Amino acid sequence: MKQSIELDSKISNFIESCLQKPNHKSYLIAVLHKIQQHYGYLSLEHMNMVAHRLQVPTSMVSGVATFYHYFRLKPRGKYAISICLGTACFVKGADKVLEAFETELGIKMGETTPDGLFSLENSRCLGVCALAPVITINERIFSKVTAQNVPGLINKVKMEIPMTE
Ligand code: FES
Repeated sequence: MKQSIELDSKISNFIESCLQKPNHKSYLIAVLHKIQQHYGYLSLEHMNMVAHRLQVPTSMVSGVATFYHYFRLKPRGKYAISICLGTACFVKGADKVLEAFETELGIKMGETTPDGLFSLENSRCLGVCALAPVITINERIFSKVTAQNVPGLINKVKMEIPMTE
């Protein structure tokens, strides 16, 4: 199959080094990690490329990519909003906060706005349950968030938080 994209040279070299090892297929997850770290998500082209280079079926690559919650199959927004849905945050109203973000942004959990600015994700407990409900936006933590805070928070982050690449 003809491959239409080129991988970053460091990733390409990493795949080459994996191919020299006895059980090179076992490096599939490590390769996907590197691609997501570099490109922000796993595109269909990336997955096809990995299958081709590691000499594994495409279905194996897509199976791994969809099985693990960690892997993203769509580009992230410039502002990645992650809502903790751990028990303490949930009990304190994280579901209402999520609903407010979904309404305000017009997207559902796991989606990105059409302009590519915002994406909504969930996270497990961040270890700061006393501050529940907690969200992060591009690694910055916001505590005791309420549904009423959400519209103001969206405006605030656009002014104060640097976008991701
Ligand atoms: S449950 Fe949200 S920080 Fe612990």
